[in-house]
Amino acid sequence: MVEKLWGGRFEQGLNKQTEAFGASIKFEQRLAPFDLQGSLAHVKMLGETGIIEKGEADQIAAGLKLVEEKLVSGEIEFKMENEDIHMNMESYLHDSIGPVAGKLHTARSRNDQVATDMHLYLKSVLREILSELISLRSVIVNLAVNQIDTIMPGYTHLQHAQPISFGQHLMAYYQMFTRDYERFEFNVKHTNMNPLGSAALAGTTFPIDRKLTTSLLGFEKPYANSMDAVSDRDFILEFLSNSSLLMMHLSRFCEDILLWCSNEFKFITLSDAYSTGSSIMPQKKNPDMAELIRGKTGRVYGNLMGLLTVMKGLPLAYNKDLQEDKEGMFDSADTILTALTVMTGMLSTMTVNKSIMEASTQKDFSNATELADYLASKGVPFRQAHEIVGKLVLDCTKKGIYLQDVSLADFRNLSVLINPDIYEVLQSRTAVARRKSLGGTGFESVQDQIDAAKIELSKH
Ligand code: ARG
Repeated sequence: MVEKLWGGRFEQGLNKQTEAFGASIKFEQRLAPFDLQGSLAHVKMLGETGIIEKGEADQIAAGLKLVEEKLVSGEIEFKMENEDIHMNMESYLHDSIGPVAGKLHTARSRNDQVATDMHLYLKSVLREILSELISLRSVIVNLAVNQIDTIMPGYTHLQHAQPISFGQHLMAYYQMFTRDYERFEFNVKHTNMNPLGSAALAGTTFPIDRKLTTSLLGFEKPYANSMDAVSDRDFILEFLSNSSLLMMHLSRFCEDILLWCSNEFKFITLSDAYSTGSSIMPQKKNPDMAELIRGKTGRVYGNLMGLLTVMKGLPLAYNKDLQEDKEGMFDSADTILTALTVMTGMLSTMTVNKSIMEASTQKDFSNATELADYLASKGVPFRQAHEIVGKLVLDCTKKGIYLQDVSLADFRNLSVLINPDIYEVLQSRTAVARRKSLGGTGFESVQDQIDAAKIELSKH
């Protein structure tokens, strides 16, 4: 049996099942490099402050480097009997340098150690996420550049509403992912704080230097309160919440893509590299990746709800419940990083069927607002104009024609204010072009949005 590092006050060994239930090593091995990094900073500080002898600190630091090498070359075997990543690493350190390894844990607790590992891990994940989000936003902008003059139906209630530029639709997602970027950027602020030196909960009697470990670990500042430091998981909750919003945006975009590549729409064609076939129906080309991103949104929401629920009744300070912060965080990190890469690839390889998009605005009533606005701009109260056009649409529906098919004589029977220029006004391209209001779908407005996005992206 492996001797427990905390075994002193115990007379009996741990029940095997209990040991497995309590151990976190099976799911937190990825914290190993961060745990070693934290220990290196800690021991350096112990040496610098004279809490342990400089020579001993150097010996421990060298030992930690040896463990790091073993980790990189895959020689470390994680043992459940050693419970968690901290004791697994410490036991390897002990194997390499002997009893002096026992001095590493001076003025430290696993409570501040695990918090430090989690902050370091999340900081590195946030860096990756921010860079993936920049790629995704750039791909959307590059796509939008070529789709400014692509006309498509804009929808409300999934019914044709008004014609829009496809560029406008794409840039709407750009805005969502930009807000996601900003949220993750803000998340860095609360992750960039050093809990190390809080010890178990109350700080320590040793003359530690928290500012030194803060700078050695590259954190912005130390936590101001030791009890907050060891029991705070807000930085993870912010991450899980930001991830949920991000997945919601990805999922909505995927839903649009799924509709667009269906036989009914045919607005886009996904690359074969992002599609799969059916084992029974030879003709099938399934948009699995978009569906899977939509589907994986569920687990990311679940991870947020899981940790919120774990936290809601916890008294200060550390409680073992906090160990439940890991699996959900790792899962959400893996899920969103993959989802972002897949989404970026899927968007950059899809084909846009411009003519089909535009054609679908020809046989509909998405130009009805144009006629109502036309009358309103000539002085007819908008409510009355709406009524006139509504009745005309009903009449056209019965006859199986569209507004642009109505003869000038029939238009003028409805209102003498209608002139031949109405046919130009009713064209979907004109409808888009004339929506020049700030943020609207007008071609220049979409171009302005793209220009602003390019400037924004060039600053990263
Ligand atoms: N594995 C534990 C966790 O993830 C590490 C901290 C353990 N501390 C303790 N006092 N049992 O939270």
